[in-house]
Amino acid sequence: MADKKKMSVEEILAACRTNVSAGGGGGAAATPLTEKASPAEEAPAADAPIAETATTEDSPAPAAAKPAAPKAKPGAMSVAEMLAAARAEKSGGEKPATPAKPAAPKAEAKPKPAAEAKAKPAEKAATPAAAKPGGAMDTASILAAVRGVSKTGPMSKSEAAAKAKTETDKGAKKKIAVPPMPARPEYVRPAAPVAAEESRRSFFASFSGVLVGSSLALGFASLAVTHLLWALGLARFMFPNILTEPPTKFKVGFPDTLAPGQVDERYKAQFGVWIVKHEYEGQSQIYAVKSVCTHLGCTPNWLEAEQKFKCPCHGSGFYKDGVNFEGPAPRPLERYAIRVADDGQLEVDKSRTFHEELGEWKKTESFVPV
Ligand code: FES
Repeated sequence: MADKKKMSVEEILAACRTNVSAGGGGGAAATPLTEKASPAEEAPAADAPIAETATTEDSPAPAAAKPAAPKAKPGAMSVAEMLAAARAEKSGGEKPATPAKPAAPKAEAKPKPAAEAKAKPAEKAATPAAAKPGGAMDTASILAAVRGVSKTGPMSKSEAAAKAKTETDKGAKKKIAVPPMPARPEYVRPAAPVAAEESRRSFFASFSGVLVGSSLALGFASLAVTHLLWALGLARFMFPNILTEPPTKFKVGFPDTLAPGQVDERYKAQFGVWIVKHEYEGQSQIYAVKSVCTHLGCTPNWLEAEQKFKCPCHGSGFYKDGVNFEGPAPRPLERYAIRVADDGQLEVDKSRTFHEELGEWKKTESFVPV
């Protein structure tokens, strides 16, 4: 019994083959097979065809098992390969099963693809690389395929690719199987905010319309005002400026209203003239003196206390008759033409002037004798 326990799987298989080839004889050799082999391995041993195909009967099983073990090269065959070899041998029972010697090498070389092709679909899906005749499978992968579980530990590139593809297929199937989303309940739907949104949108639409309309109206109003101003300017251009000067002839009242020696200043501001009733060269006259300094054109003042015209610019002084006597003024003040109008009033004509240095004061148009 101690020897039986030390036998490896290869030795057991070799003994089984030998026993089968011996036609089921050698009960002593069959006993350890039934004790060691698994139920799957036990069935072929009990099958009748295997017993029928046996041709050698005189060689005892234990004797054949002993030499077969070393030829099987323990460690060179995996368990799956051994199982495949056993099954192939079982199916092809008519082959010459002479000794266990040729059986072991044949089982290693040829039946491997056939045995793996007969593997379960689950095993193929789990380890696709194992189905290839020349695929690189280690012992752990073969055992995992047989047990129907995934391999633990390091994986080859082909195994990793197969696993990723399997997981991708599973993920795609899961995505397809996703149930649809349930309908949203009534109490969750925002009914009131939708109405508020509608009102807000309408408000902004109307507001933007008003803005656009007001902008257009403002633009057209500005354009109309601009055109109106342009038309007014054109009309004003059609009528040139007119100088509104005081008339050159104006009446200053009756001659009797003036006292002898009086200088009337009432018309100085409006007409720039003094009306004087005074004597010139021994003759009492009424004459109109121009209120413009003969120096540089300033307006002199009548100083009643000093009885003279005094220019405030450079100090020129003039007597009551208009003759200069002080300051830079080079000549006497000028006179305007004066006459008695038809109505008896004195009328001054500023369009004509008379200069004393030229002897024009002697002309009768330059004074009114009284
Ligand atoms: Fe009258 Fe010079 S302007 S004194």
